[in-house]
Amino acid sequence: MKIFFNINLLMLFLGLGPVLAPNAWAAGDIETGRTKAVACQVCHGKGGKSTNPLYPVLAGQHAQYIIKQLRAFNAGTRKDPIMNGMAAPLSEQDMEDLAAFFHSNQAPQE
Ligand code: HEC
Repeated sequence: MKIFFNINLLMLFLGLGPVLAPNAWAAGDIETGRTKAVACQVCHGKGGKSTNPLYPVLAGQHAQYIIKQLRAFNAGTRKDPIMNGMAAPLSEQDMEDLAAFFHSNQAPQE
């Protein structure tokens, strides 16, 4: 009896996964992100279009990837002296807004 209960819970979880996942980052607001991204521009370039090889291009990057990296810098599980400091004050909403903004920009073309 108990095992059926658990399988049902798992099915429910798996079934909801694809429905919840896109909403998780669709919560970011591009225009709010644009304002917040001014703090990132000095290194990552305007709109995340970095031309300096020391700083990764963020324009066009998937929002989920950006959020994942910002969470890791914030938690200290990804270590970089600059980015640990930059991500420290960011809230979950900041990360989602920033990610939505950078994702909405086109990556620089060759
Ligand atoms: C003083 C320079 C500087 C500023 C300002 C800065 N960054 Fe960074 N950022 C870096 C460097 C350097 C790296 C590469 C770190 C590494 O090598 O792991 C990086 C990496 C990243 C990455 C990971 C990219 C990848 O491809 O894995 C993200 C995401 C990021 N920064 C977002 C931001 C955001 C958002 C802001 C503004 C809130 C910001 N950065 C401000 C220097 C900066």
